[in-house]
Amino acid sequence: MAAQGEHNNYFVREIEKTNGSFLTVSQCYMGDVGCVVWDAAIVLAKYLETQQFYDPTSGVNLWAGRRVVELGAGTGVVGLMAATLGADVSVTDLEDLQTLLKVNIQDNQTLISTGSISAKVLKWGEDVSGFLPPPHYVLMADCIYYEQSITPLVETLKLLSGPETCIICCYEQRTEGINPKVEKQFFKLLQESFNCEEIPLSKHDSEFRSPDIHILHVRKKVSSC
Ligand SMILES: C[S@@+](CC[C@H](N)C(=O)[O-])C[C@H]1O[C@@H](n2cnc3c(N)ncnc32)[C@H](O)[C@@H]1O
Repeated sequence: MAAQGEHNNYFVREIEKTNGSFLTVSQCYMGDVGCVVWDAAIVLAKYLETQQFYDPTSGVNLWAGRRVVELGAGTGVVGLMAATLGADVSVTDLEDLQTLLKVNIQDNQTLISTGSISAKVLKWGEDVSGFLPPPHYVLMADCIYYEQSITPLVETLKLLSGPETCIICCYEQRTEGINPKVEKQFFKLLQESFNCEEIPLSKHDSEFRSPDIHILHVRKKVSSC
């Protein structure tokens, strides 16, 4: 584990894949909320491995060759899972998270064969031209948590999404403090431009699921003009 040896302020979390291999994800003792793996990220990462993403007749893995952008990636665990499944992934976050993302990419490189992954800066509300044409999937785990981010985050989703883009949004529903208000505002604004489909708990990973962690498939509304 290169990250542990080289930087004493890292601690590692291992996430087992269904094929028995392990994602090795470094987290920081010091830093902001993006420095640790949140429960919604584990739920989303494990959801990407479920049967829904395999063709029922051929058994082919539907992530292969898909272009994916992860927003607010933090440690990058969700994007790393997608890349090990064959997707071409950009894990994005603020400048401060780039070193951690690069450490985690390096430490999991041997698990990535047909897919690819790179870390990039993307601040919500700013230019997304480097991520276009629209990716097949936008992934986001636990990104709905402060009021000032709602408008720029929804703006980024609008700019990144094309008619074929599926946003998979996973979040932990919190009942305290400002959280219910932030969630309500986010979904009100989101639903002006997108349709949201909640994925029932029965379709989440059978072990890594929780009633307070929601997964939504979100797609841009088709313009009526
Ligand atoms: C609660 S953490 C979730 C991290 C990771 N997705 C997970 O679930 O483990 C929220 C992430 O959003 C990122 N973030 C917050 N505001 C942002 C902004 N304006 N632009 C881009 N990323 C932002 C943070 O840096 C952080 O990594």
